[in-house]
Amino acid sequence: MSDVLVIGATGKTGRRLVPLLLAGGHRVRAATRRPAAAPDGAVPVRFDWADETTHGPALEGAEAVYLVTPELRLDHAEVVIPFVARAREAGVRRVVFLSVRGIDQGPDNDFLRVERALAESGMEWTVLRPTWFTQNFTEGAFAPAPHNGFSIIACAGEGRIPFIDTEDIAAVAAAALTGDGHHGQIYDLSGPEAITFGEAARILGEHAGRDIPYVDVPAEDFGAALRGAGLPDDYAALLVMMLQVAAAGHEAAISDGVARALGREATSVEHAAARDAVAPATA
Ligand SMILES: NC(=O)c1ccc[n+]([C@@H]2O[C@H](COP(=O)([O-])OP(=O)(O)OC[C@H]3O[C@@H](n4cnc5c(N)ncnc54)[C@H](OP(=O)(O)O)[C@@H]3O)[C@@H](O)[C@H]2O)c1
Repeated sequence: MSDVLVIGATGKTGRRLVPLLLAGGHRVRAATRRPAAAPDGAVPVRFDWADETTHGPALEGAEAVYLVTPELRLDHAEVVIPFVARAREAGVRRVVFLSVRGIDQGPDNDFLRVERALAESGMEWTVLRPTWFTQNFTEGAFAPAPHNGFSIIACAGEGRIPFIDTEDIAAVAAAALTGDGHHGQIYDLSGPEAITFGEAARILGEHAGRDIPYVDVPAEDFGAALRGAGLPDDYAALLVMMLQVAAAGHEAAISDGVARALGREATSVEHAAARDAVAPATA
């Protein structure tokens, strides 16, 4: 049994990780800006990347940390790297970092800087590099809702992506945080099958019991919509660029990280949709 600090404990991966850790008999400190929203069974810990005074108290007693960078910020290394050093000083032995698949294929960036800082920290480390999450369609940027006419809107064209179930990411994170044999591993994580946004919309619609159209829009329109929804310019531009990479067929590769870490196949969008049967809000 150990104490694990889960950053992003209310997010798409963190809130699925917390119950796995609790079921394994570990104590969980759930870091969030909204302690009332912390998952059941965890100790809520007020944590804000933008408020350094919350960093030290959050780390108290933690032996392992699940590290998720601040939302919508590409220039996060200046706050995350000092936190890594602080974790080491506080006695943390192990860190699992949620990075991004393909992040090493372009110019240097803050995800790679944080990965390097971890590798040089002296702590045990594991890096998770997932592709696009399946749950973006149910609780993220692509979720059908009144503002988008209950459709899925993007600029991915016919590009295929092997969307990854965040339950699988959480399972890999739990294994790496609490098990042996994951130190120094970089796990590229994907689902078992690359599908288009149109196919994903059809699968989700079938399980939600309603038609969910996929609406493909020009990249510049999608970028404008993201900025209109409050995303910072640089973050919106990155998302658009990543969708264009997918549209060009460069995000279709299947990764073996789930099998390497867990010894089982990754979960398909079909299976995740049937399991969750999350009906989008209706008008
Ligand atoms: N979504 C994808 O398809 C995808 C794919 C690959 C990699 N990733 C990476 O995965 C990470 C999470 O992505 P996501 O967009 O899906 O978000 P998410 O995990 O669903 O939600 C963001 C989480 O971060 C926490 N958070 C945000 N700002 C914070 C702050 N200032 N201080 C403390 N906590 C903060 C939020 O907690 P509170 O609001 O409770 O404070 C929430 O739990 C990002 O690094 C992203 O680049 C995402």
